[in-house]
Amino acid sequence: MNKFVVYQSDSLSGEVTIGGAKNSALKLMAAALLAEGVTILHNVPDITDVTIMSELLMAMGVGVARFGNRVEIDVPAEINPEAPYELVSRMRASISVLGPLIARFGIATVAIPGGDDFGSRPIDMHLTGLERLGAKFSYEHGNIYGKAGKLRGAEVLLEFPSVGATENLMMAASLSVGNTVIDNAAREPEISDLSDLLNLMGAKVSGAGTSRITIEGVEQMVPVEFTVIPDRVEAATFMSAIAVCGGKALLRNARPEHMRMLIRKMEEMGMEITLDPAGIVIERNTTTKGVHVSTLPYPGLATDYKPFLVVALAVSEGLSMVTENIFAGRFRYIDELVRMGADIRAEGRHAVVTGVSCFSGAKVRAHDIRAGAALVVAGMGADGVTEVYEAEHIDRGYENLAGKLTAMGAQVERA
Ligand code: UD1
Repeated sequence: MNKFVVYQSDSLSGEVTIGGAKNSALKLMAAALLAEGVTILHNVPDITDVTIMSELLMAMGVGVARFGNRVEIDVPAEINPEAPYELVSRMRASISVLGPLIARFGIATVAIPGGDDFGSRPIDMHLTGLERLGAKFSYEHGNIYGKAGKLRGAEVLLEFPSVGATENLMMAASLSVGNTVIDNAAREPEISDLSDLLNLMGAKVSGAGTSRITIEGVEQMVPVEFTVIPDRVEAATFMSAIAVCGGKALLRNARPEHMRMLIRKMEEMGMEITLDPAGIVIERNTTTKGVHVSTLPYPGLATDYKPFLVVALAVSEGLSMVTENIFAGRFRYIDELVRMGADIRAEGRHAVVTGVSCFSGAKVRAHDIRAGAALVVAGMGADGVTEVYEAEHIDRGYENLAGKLTAMGAQVERA
């Protein structure tokens, strides 16, 4: 049936180990293309999106092997630089191979990603940025055909601090001639993780984590061994589970410095958060109360946290205003929450959430990775049984979500 079956949980306890960050691992795998030889990545989550990225690399002639959470990527001297529609349409992050392919091989064919459940997501900033470095693109038959001689460093001012565009440009500029400056760069922790990998591979990237990233091009990069940072969005998932069900848990390996705004919002709601050398300890002792939240580029509140906050706010006392500033269409799961008894009115970029005492178990549908996981969390705070269908969306970004929640005392099955 491909669903999660979720029963009400009163209180959670114990600990959960946070896995490697999906949004970092995918880009680090793409970055491996920049060097010939075997790049070894540790702490790579075993999730469908990583499998799709592996299939994409293998379709190009790259060897990819997984040993537990270690992934070995063997890049030959010559590859087939094509990202076909079958894979790109399953995962938009496939676009992150474009920069490395153009920089190292001077040629790339990448299917144009279609729309997805967030609505339309353009890639114009990726392309205009790469054009500033000397790449030329043409569009035919649903594909982007990219060509370049040796890329040349340039100044790139992004219209918006796009995570994906910043990453593609950092990777491409690493193998160019001369200096590149990316202004209005994204500042997410995953950008710093990519910068750390690139520098270990021999690139010269500085300023990652700030709005101005400078890259001094190098002629060649080498394969290395590297460990992916912990997934802050997976950590947010368990934080909202404690907010909804109550109890206390240690989120092992969670990095509080990557989640400062979420921690602040959770504290405003009445959650107790302690920073522990092993990770984050989160506890709920009182009824939580509504707060206003507004998503922004990092270090603002991540849009990926929003479904988890909405679920927690839906069963908090009082009224909360939630504003989405990154993706226009990212409120579809709200109709599902309303089916579960939530009192939420969404219009345009805003949602007004009025707290109710409890969700009501129902059959609902996962529209995307994070919204799907948030519905599982809502089910843990619902009387009766909740069935979350289209669970394959959740598998794209979570390794063993049911097992991890069950270990904390929840009753969640992946059927
Ligand atoms: C990444 C994350 C995603 C997260 C998002 C914002 C991955 C695989 N995904 O997505 O989970 O929600 O960052 O933190 O890492 N835009 C354009 N033109 C472009 C590029 C982006 O208009 O060329 C717009 C997008 O439509 C969106 C905004 O910029 O409105 C931010 O997008 P971006 O930061 O690029 O997100 P992704 O890298 O796609």
